[in-house]
Amino acid sequence: MAQRGIFITFEGVEGAGKTTQVQRLATALGPDVVVTREPGGTPVSERIRDVFLTSDRITTMTELLLIAAARAQHVDERIRPALASNQIVICDRFIDATVAYQGYRGGIDLEIIHQLNHVATGGLIPDITFMLDLSPEIGLQRQQQDETYRDRLDKEPLEFHRRVREGYLATAKSEPHRVKLIDATQSPDAVHSQILTEYQKFLSK
Ligand code: TMP
Repeated sequence: MAQRGIFITFEGVEGAGKTTQVQRLATALGPDVVVTREPGGTPVSERIRDVFLTSDRITTMTELLLIAAARAQHVDERIRPALASNQIVICDRFIDATVAYQGYRGGIDLEIIHQLNHVATGGLIPDITFMLDLSPEIGLQRQQQDETYRDRLDKEPLEFHRRVREGYLATAKSEPHRVKLIDATQSPDAVHSQILTEYQKFLSK
């Protein structure tokens, strides 16, 4: 089998501190790490992200198809080539977000989501996923204290965020070897050190 790099993804409810932890892990792993995000990561996929995040009237099926289109381009243009040249890729959200948001929150049949994820990725699955878990009450509170821009999904009611979390927890439960659940109520330093520990364990397997 061809040698390949390592594919790491981060997931979590809004306000869990994902972006900070992505940056901290990237810094810890050295200069040759590719940091990317979904939806996004290539020029076409970033344009799709913009449509996805800024359109007010959008059905959940349209969301799903936009996400899948953005992902197909991202995997082909950016993620697979980086892995083929042995790089470490860290992606901020990936397939598990679609299960949580369009599946558990949006109500689309999970079988359709899994199939579409498979088509868009050509079967590529992360080697390890760090899932930052937090109650949506705390997550949204953290976000409100933060002055950064909140997108259309951040503004949805609490019930929406509860279903997203439920979806993430269901994935963590069904795929425990890949998905590492991290308590995001800890300090950023403690979260980072737990991530490093899990990563070392993964490498030594
Ligand atoms: P971000 O908060 O990580 O920047 O992600 C942007 C939004 O996109 C976030 O609210 C979650 C949403 N999203 C989905 O709904 N489905 C997906 O598959 C992905 C990757 C993101």
